[in-house]
Amino acid sequence: MPARALPGFREFYPEEISLRNHIFAAWRNVARRYGFEEYDGPPLEPLELYTEKSGPEIVGQLYEFVDKGQRRVALRPEMTPTLARMVGARAASLKKPIRWYSIPQLFRYERQQRGRLREHFQLNMDIIGEPGPLADAEIIGAAIDVQRALGLGPEDVRVRISDRRVLRCLLLGAGVPEEDLTATFMAIDRVGRVQNVAELIEKALEHAPEDRTAIAKRVLEIASIRDRGRLEKALGDVGAGSVAEGLLDCLDALRAMGFEEFVDLDLSIVRGLAYYTGIVFELFDAQQSLRAICGGGRYDGLLGALGGADLPAVGFGMGDVVLGELIKEKNLLPSKRAALDVFIVAVTGADMPEVLALARELRDAGIAVEYPLRLQSVAKQLKLAAAREARWAVMVGPDERSEGKVLLRDLASGSEEKVGREALLQRLGTVTAGK
Ligand code: HAM
Repeated sequence: MPARALPGFREFYPEEISLRNHIFAAWRNVARRYGFEEYDGPPLEPLELYTEKSGPEIVGQLYEFVDKGQRRVALRPEMTPTLARMVGARAASLKKPIRWYSIPQLFRYERQQRGRLREHFQLNMDIIGEPGPLADAEIIGAAIDVQRALGLGPEDVRVRISDRRVLRCLLLGAGVPEEDLTATFMAIDRVGRVQNVAELIEKALEHAPEDRTAIAKRVLEIASIRDRGRLEKALGDVGAGSVAEGLLDCLDALRAMGFEEFVDLDLSIVRGLAYYTGIVFELFDAQQSLRAICGGGRYDGLLGALGGADLPAVGFGMGDVVLGELIKEKNLLPSKRAALDVFIVAVTGADMPEVLALARELRDAGIAVEYPLRLQSVAKQLKLAAAREARWAVMVGPDERSEGKVLLRDLASGSEEKVGREALLQRLGTVTAGK
């Protein structure tokens, strides 16, 4: 037995690739309808692209090694730093706002668990060059429309939205020292995932002079805000009402777009990546029994930090793994369509040249055709045709050839008729035209 596939890496047998293709088709369809252009980058990158900007969670999961030229390299664990570099390098000549999408395969050396593998495909949609909240709403709207395109509604998928600018303000007001903000963000990011969040928050408050337990309690209260009323009151208390303008405008825009039913305000959403600066969001299955389907947000400092043009940006990454699980769970798998239109049966060896010529003609007309690659009994050929779920068998035998016709059998009904070449093409062509 040859060596097995590595843990966390998938083999896509035809049944599985059809689900993957279904997801990719929905991704491309939505990207097209939103006017996004496709790009791609290298799967292998200099290690430093991630060590500086991505944050400890991803860096701890890198597939990294030294290549034969003694370069420290990593398989890409995410697309955003590559995108930021590519746009930064040509920023002057690109028409803003830039709307780009990509479907990279990504690699993370994670502990393998449900919904988390060591490779996955991820739809990335990003808008670069627009700081206003309509760009955030557009990006979140696209993520929601992918769910809708796959048959998932607000009872299946929820979008949870927050804003790091707002959270930062509230945390400072609650007594979290500026130096401990990042660590506190990362602790809040664990809300709902681990039991001991209060403890994690206390640990994060390294520089707090006063009672850490009391501050941690206030932090947890802030993270539990789920509605506008409480948010506005909390901001009023610290005299920072206007900091939530972007978030509230984004929520209003999503309502105007008709997506309100999908959306929940949720101040416990922070995101694990280091580069986010504003609105952040995640999509989850409504039962929250699976990992996140999608995550994204605004990262206005990343392009500048990578040495390119200092442009604001917002986007998301949506993986194929959890989405695939949800589609299966909700029985939303696409109905299987017969891949093969026609199986041509050669009645005798002498019919083979005619079979080959006919196959070529039908394939040129866009029809999916198979024929036996070695001479077999008619019964065996028909068995193979049935196994392939072909719609028709076209029989070519000495009698048919002498008449200049073929025998067309509908494999579902069993009905047969003799037809000439032209009539055959017309029949098959019109039935397969909509494919
Ligand atoms: P992320 O939250 O690390 O964000 O990943 C986004 C999504 O990719 C997750 O919600 C999940 O669906 C999928 N995903 C991540 N890791 C795995 C894994 N090991 N196995 C299966 N699926 C996984 C980012 O990567 C950001 N760069 C997204 C972004 C784009 N932000 C702005 N633009």
